[in-house]
Amino acid sequence: MKIIRLPAKLAAYALRLKRNQQSIGLVPTMGALHDGHLSLICSARKENDFVCVSIFINPKQFSAREDFKKYPRPLSKDLELCRKAGVDIVFLPEAEDIYPEGFGSFVDLPAISSLLCGKTRPGHFRGVATIVLKLFNITRADNAYFGQKDAQQAVVISRMISDLNLPVKLRVMPIVRCNDGLALSSRNVYLNKQQRQDAVVLYQALCLARCLIDHGLVDTQRLLLRMRQLIAKHQTAKIDYITAVDLNSLKPIKRISQGCLIALAVKFGKTRLIDNIVI
Ligand code: PAF
Repeated sequence: MKIIRLPAKLAAYALRLKRNQQSIGLVPTMGALHDGHLSLICSARKENDFVCVSIFINPKQFSAREDFKKYPRPLSKDLELCRKAGVDIVFLPEAEDIYPEGFGSFVDLPAISSLLCGKTRPGHFRGVATIVLKLFNITRADNAYFGQKDAQQAVVISRMISDLNLPVKLRVMPIVRCNDGLALSSRNVYLNKQQRQDAVVLYQALCLARCLIDHGLVDTQRLLLRMRQLIAKHQTAKIDYITAVDLNSLKPIKRISQGCLIALAVKFGKTRLIDNIVI
C-alpha cells in the first residue's frame, strides 16, 4: 500500500494508471475509519482496478464552533485497516498542500446546501463540495464511494457531478449500523454511556416512521409528530430537525410518497448525530 502526501504526486500517479486503462475507485474520508468506511472500501475494491482512500480532515467544512480540533485522528489504526482491506493508495495530504496560500475557489450549491443540516451548519456543504471536487480532480476517480448516512452530502455531490459534467460515477452505499440500530459514525465515540443508550432512539424513530407508513399514514405532520414524541422521551436528546423531503430537491413534502427521504439530526450533549431512511 502506497501512502502519498502530495497532490501533484498523486495526480501524476493517477494519470499513469489511467494511461494504462486502470480504473480508479475513490473513498474520501476524514479518517477515524469504522465498518461503514470499510464497506465503502470493500465495494470500491470489487469494482475497480485501483482503490484510493483519502484521509483528510477538511478544515473548510467545519465552522469555528465545531469539532475540527478534537475530531478523532487514530492514524496508525486507520492505515492498518486500509492495508487489511486491500487499499492500494492512501492519500494523506497536509492542509497547506490542499489549500495553499491564496486559495480562493469554492463550489457552492446554495439551494440544497441551505436546507436540513445546512440550516445549522452554514458553509459546511460548500467546504464538502470544494474538497470533493479537488479529490476527484487529483485522483481522476472513475467511481467515488459515499455513505447514505450523509444523505444530504450525497445529494450535494450528485448535483455537483451532474451540474459540472464531472466524469465520475457516484456510488452511494447503504448505512451500516450497530446491532442495536445506531448508525456507525466517527462521532459516536464522543457519546457517554447514557447518551449512547439514548442515541438508539434515532433508529427507533425511523423504524416507527416506516411502520406507520406501512400502515397507511401519509400525512407528514402527523408522522413527524409521532417521531418527535418518541425522541422527546429521552432526556439527553435535543432535536435539531426531523423532516420528510423529496430525495432530489430536499424540499419538504406534505404527503409521504415512494422514494422520499425521512431524515433527522439530534444532539446528545455536544454530539450531533444524523440518520435517515428512504421510503
Ligand atoms: O463524509 C466525509 O467524511 C467528508 O464530508 C468527506 C466526504 C470526506 C469530505 O471531507
